[in-house]
Amino acid sequence: MNQLEQIKQPIAADLVRFNEIFDGTLKHPNPLLHRVFQHILMRKGKLMRPTLLLLSAREFGQPTEATYLSAVMLELLHTASLVHDDVVDESDERRGQSAVHSDFGNNVAVLVGDYLLSSSLEKAAETGNMRIVEHISRLGKNLASGEIIQLSNTETDILSEETYFDVIRLKTASLFIEAAMLGAISVGADETAVQRMSRFGEIIGLCFQIKDDIFDYSANSDIGKPTGSDMAEGKLTLPALLALKSHGNDAWRALARKVKTCLASKDDIARLVEFTKTSGGIEDSYTVMEQLSAQARALISDFRQEEIKQALLSYIDFVSSRTI
Ligand code: IPE
Ligand code: IPE
Ligand code: MG
Ligand code: MG
Repeated sequence: MNQLEQIKQPIAADLVRFNEIFDGTLKHPNPLLHRVFQHILMRKGKLMRPTLLLLSAREFGQPTEATYLSAVMLELLHTASLVHDDVVDESDERRGQSAVHSDFGNNVAVLVGDYLLSSSLEKAAETGNMRIVEHISRLGKNLASGEIIQLSNTETDILSEETYFDVIRLKTASLFIEAAMLGAISVGADETAVQRMSRFGEIIGLCFQIKDDIFDYSANSDIGKPTGSDMAEGKLTLPALLALKSHGNDAWRALARKVKTCLASKDDIARLVEFTKTSGGIEDSYTVMEQLSAQARALISDFRQEEIKQALLSYIDFVSSRTI
């Protein structure tokens, strides 16, 4: 059994129910929409967010229908954000197959993303729980504003770790925050527990995106999406920011600003990638993830369900050590 299967073991039955609802949502009589849904269902993702939500629910009580609907709601919104993200990033591959827009066109990808987003809202409404509706609405705004801040950040030449963390907190961690919180909320956990899960999800989400940004520096075919594209898009992620902090001088900072404002050549980018790698930017990013992971482990140290606690410890580990 691989690590991901181990993490999912205690909630295997819950994931069966999740998949029933999720697959049932991606059905439509229109032949084009049917084909796009088939394409999406052919390669499901790792289901990190539903898994976190269900583990959180199992620690604090018995999953309810609202738990399953919330898990589906988050995965639908995540899927919508990926379909749109690949349009925004002009990225052709996702989950080891062509991105939706590559096979069906940008027009279809935008509309299917909208359809998935609306299906996510519908799941929230089906819970009949206004608090869940509020959470999903805020989450949608956070995801979009994270992407917008990231875009507008490429228009300035300021190299800021703080902005980097603000962006990844919104565009990535907010989904993990909601997964951890809604698991607890949907089974009636108390407010202290819900707030603790919010911080837990935040840490997981930050580490998840830092690891994703490290992937961009590698040429690993397991990842199932293109690498080496962040700098080409004017994105300076944590490895480069930390390398500049520890080993940067005026010349390297000038080059970094050129990359960030999309004025760099392929050769400039190759030099900055090399500088980042040889100046310990990747190792320093792992150190940051390890510091965050230690905080996450402390947050669940008194969890009562031993099986769930072990799965979550393994989840923390997987986020930083994963190869997919
Ligand atoms: C990809 O998320 C987008 C990021 C936040 C980096 P995942 O790696 O969870 O995507 P899937 O759903 O497993 O494909
Ligand atoms: C990750 O964005 C967050 C979202 C998909 C909304 P990226 O653009 O960094 O993620 P990948 O690398 O395409 O999955
Ligand atoms: Mg993107
Ligand atoms: Mg992308």
